[in-house]
Amino acid sequence: MKNFLPIGIFDSGVGGISVLQQIYQLLPNENIVYIADSNYAPYGGKNFEDIKDRAFKIINFLIKNHDIKLLIIACNTVTACCIKEIREKYTIPIIGMEPAVKPAINASKLKRIGILATKGTLKSTKFAALLESYDGEAHFYTQPCIGLVELIEMGNFESIQIKELVYKNLLPLRRYNVDVIVLGCTHFFYIKDIVNNYFSESVIVIDTGKAVAVRTKNILYQNNLLNTKQNNSSLIYSNGTSKVQEVIKRIIPMKNYQLSLCKTF
Ligand code: DGL
Repeated sequence: MKNFLPIGIFDSGVGGISVLQQIYQLLPNENIVYIADSNYAPYGGKNFEDIKDRAFKIINFLIKNHDIKLLIIACNTVTACCIKEIREKYTIPIIGMEPAVKPAINASKLKRIGILATKGTLKSTKFAALLESYDGEAHFYTQPCIGLVELIEMGNFESIQIKELVYKNLLPLRRYNVDVIVLGCTHFFYIKDIVNNYFSESVIVIDTGKAVAVRTKNILYQNNLLNTKQNNSSLIYSNGTSKVQEVIKRIIPMKNYQLSLCKTF
């Protein structure tokens, strides 16, 4: 029975834990193996060949060592860069992340939408095609938030440094009078409160974690892969510093898990 096999999830670091949290909440019976590739974070400024290389190494590791039944790419940048090639290479169900543009259009009264994402996501042809497919339905304003992922990896989500950098990226969006902000990078989930406070709750802030969890549940169900047995033991791999591992321990949602320092992927 494949049902008991784990779901594999990965990101460049702690960002994907915001997705893991939603998966764990909606699918508490599932075994999960999560890889935080913090040693190579951030992905956002890397060239696409390097990102692809990281993605394939991690997925091969997850398949070889854990025989995962489904893969979640909890990273907008990897999805934008190479989900097509990943899907061509592997036969298991694969779920990616992309900025929640459609929900943002639905939520926006002014049809003026700000999108925070990495440089890699914003420069990708996949993202250009996404915006193109909604051409004429809203005005989109993007901000690359350079340097923010590095600060989030350090774990002090409320630091002055983070606030100043977020404010700097939000200022142009305020000038454009946006009424919805899309968090198009899984790390940015952790600055959601800062964004809300900056706009005094007058904008809607959208992230994609919950939608990905719902999609995961549907795909597991359609493939007869849901784990119905009440049991879960999860494994978190990190190749990051001890500081990053402390951050992981602080934000990980589950009680029953093992954190392993690993450099082999
Ligand atoms: N958390 C990732 C994303 O959603 C990658 C951030 C980074 O490493 O630059 O894009």
